[in-house]
Amino acid sequence: MGYVIVTGAAGGIGQALVRAFAEAGYPVIGVDLAAKPERLPTAHYIQCDLARTVAEPTYAEEIFSTIRTTLDGQPFDALINNAAVQILGKVEGLNRDAWHRTLDVNLLAPFLWAQALLPELEEAKGCVLNISSIHARLTKPEFVAYATSKAALSGMTRAMAIELGSRVRVNAIEPAAIDTPMLLAGFNGNPAGYELLKYCHPSRCVGSTDGLARLAVAITQLEDGFANGSIVRFDGGIGAQLHDPRTLYVSCEDSG
Ligand SMILES: NC(=O)c1ccc[n+]([C@@H]2O[C@H](COP(=O)([O-])OP(=O)(O)OC[C@H]3O[C@@H](n4cnc5c(N)ncnc54)[C@H](O)[C@@H]3O)[C@@H](O)[C@H]2O)c1
Repeated sequence: MGYVIVTGAAGGIGQALVRAFAEAGYPVIGVDLAAKPERLPTAHYIQCDLARTVAEPTYAEEIFSTIRTTLDGQPFDALINNAAVQILGKVEGLNRDAWHRTLDVNLLAPFLWAQALLPELEEAKGCVLNISSIHARLTKPEFVAYATSKAALSGMTRAMAIELGSRVRVNAIEPAAIDTPMLLAGFNGNPAGYELLKYCHPSRCVGSTDGLARLAVAITQLEDGFANGSIVRFDGGIGAQLHDPRTLYVSCEDSG
C-alpha cells in the first residue's frame, strides 16, 4: 500500500479519515495546524499552516521537501484535501482577511498541494480526493465565503479531472451534516434541535464520520480510471429534496 496524505487530520472528519485509511493498511501522513491528537494512527505527522503554504513559496517548498523525504520513493496513493475553515459572516460584515483565509485554506492549498505532488501521484497512478460540502450547491445565510470556496473546490475537481485525464484521478465528496464532536456540541442541551436536524434529511439521520471515511477509502481504492471527475454526494438525500410546502408538511408529520 502506498502513502496517503490527509490534511486537517486533527479535525473531526480528519481523525476518522486517518483511522479508516490506517485500518485499510495505508501508511498515513497527517497534516494539520493543530498538534497531533493522542493515539491518532499516523505513520508521520506534519504540523503546518496550509495558508502559509499558499502565501510563502519558500515555506511551501520546505513542507513539500519534508513530504518527499518522508515518501522516500515509496508509492503515493492519495492526497485527501480535507482541511477547511468555516468563517461565517453577513454580506455586510465579511472582511478581506476572512475571504483570503477561506480561499487560501479551502481552495488554493488543495490546488497547490496537488500541483506540487503531481509527479509522485502520477507515478503511483494515485488520486486526489477533495472533501467539499453540500454548501457547494445549497447554502444558507452567513455562509457566503465558505459556500463560495466549496463551490469552487467542486468546480476545480471537475476542471483538474478533465485536464489530468488518465494521469491522476480527481474526485470530490460533498457531505451534508456529519456527526463530528463540533456538530454534536452545537446541539448540547438542545436535543429537539438535533432531532429536527436529522428530520431535515430524507434519510432521517445525520452522516457519520466513519461512513464518510469509508466512502473516501472506497473511492481511493477504485483503481478504475473511469471513476474520475466525480462529485459524490454524502448527504442523506437532502440535496435531492424539493422544499415545497408538502415536503415540509410530511417532514413535520414524520417527526411527530
Ligand atoms: N462536519 C460537517 O458536518 C461537514 C459537512 C460538510 C463538509 N465538511 C468538510 O469536511 C472537512 C472536515 O471538516 P470537520 O468537520 O472535520 O472540521 P474541523 O474543523 O473539525 O477540522 C478541520 C481541520 O482543518 C485544520 N485546519 C484548518 N485550517 C488549517 C490550516 N491553515 N492549516 C492546516 N490545517 C488547518 C484544523 O486545525 C482542523 O483540525 C472540511 O473540508 C469541511 O468543509 C464537514
